[in-house]
Amino acid sequence: MQRQAICWQREGMRVVLVPTMGALHAGHMSLVRRARGIASKNGIVVVSIYVNPLQFDDSADFRKYPRTLAADKRACKGDGVDVVFAPTNLYETDSSAFVDESALVKNFEGRYRPGHFSGVMTVVAKLFNLVQPSHAVFGEKDFQQAVVLQRMVRDLNIPVKINVAPTVREADGLALSSRNVRLKGNFRQQAAVLWQAICAARAAGNTKADQLKRRLKRLIEKHPDVSVDYVEFVEAVSLQPVKRVTKGVRLLLAVNVGGVRLIDNAKL
Ligand code: PAF
Repeated sequence: MQRQAICWQREGMRVVLVPTMGALHAGHMSLVRRARGIASKNGIVVVSIYVNPLQFDDSADFRKYPRTLAADKRACKGDGVDVVFAPTNLYETDSSAFVDESALVKNFEGRYRPGHFSGVMTVVAKLFNLVQPSHAVFGEKDFQQAVVLQRMVRDLNIPVKINVAPTVREADGLALSSRNVRLKGNFRQQAAVLWQAICAARAAGNTKADQLKRRLKRLIEKHPDVSVDYVEFVEAVSLQPVKRVTKGVRLLLAVNVGGVRLIDNAKL
């Protein structure tokens, strides 16, 4: 992959990377379309598919992660991807150098999934070194991830522009995610409560954050199989919690629906 990337560099080709863990759905395909727009007709769009063991704090979650490589390749072919990079393993057995961050990962996903963001940053840095893109596209659904990766390229002077593409949603507002296939029967219906919470927060207008958090938690946990991990209102770059919910604040949500952990977020 790296040899090919160096050839593209020499030829002056613009290379745009869409890093994924596979199980591609319409949300990923919207990232691919965004990448094609940036690469334009003559550039190269690379989709990487790699279920990165380093970012799973729970080995059962890693094992259960859907793997659909043949279907993913077909989807990429149909949607104008130039190269699918699907390595089987990216780590040495004695890998001991990793990327880390010390401020933005303290809360939210970083707190519930220790080591997760170090795993994400390490694999993304490796993918950047292997594919050498000028741009990379990530989904806004994983908002904290996008903010952490923007910090990584800024602080480590990595010459890749991070592009964040909007979340794609089902008709009832549920954000597309590879994990949604695990929502069986009635759980799928209950999962729409994340979007209902976002709509309620948007409708609330200028409010005290604590008050609105309590209201959203009550709304979400009205559903019998749903429990809240966190509901927080933050400033969008520092991810610092705010006291008052005003326009431009970011709502971050993580809930468990029948044992499936779902995250979502929205700009208010
Ligand atoms: O968002 C994802 O699918 C993963 O965290 C990523 C960015 C591909 C790194 O493994």
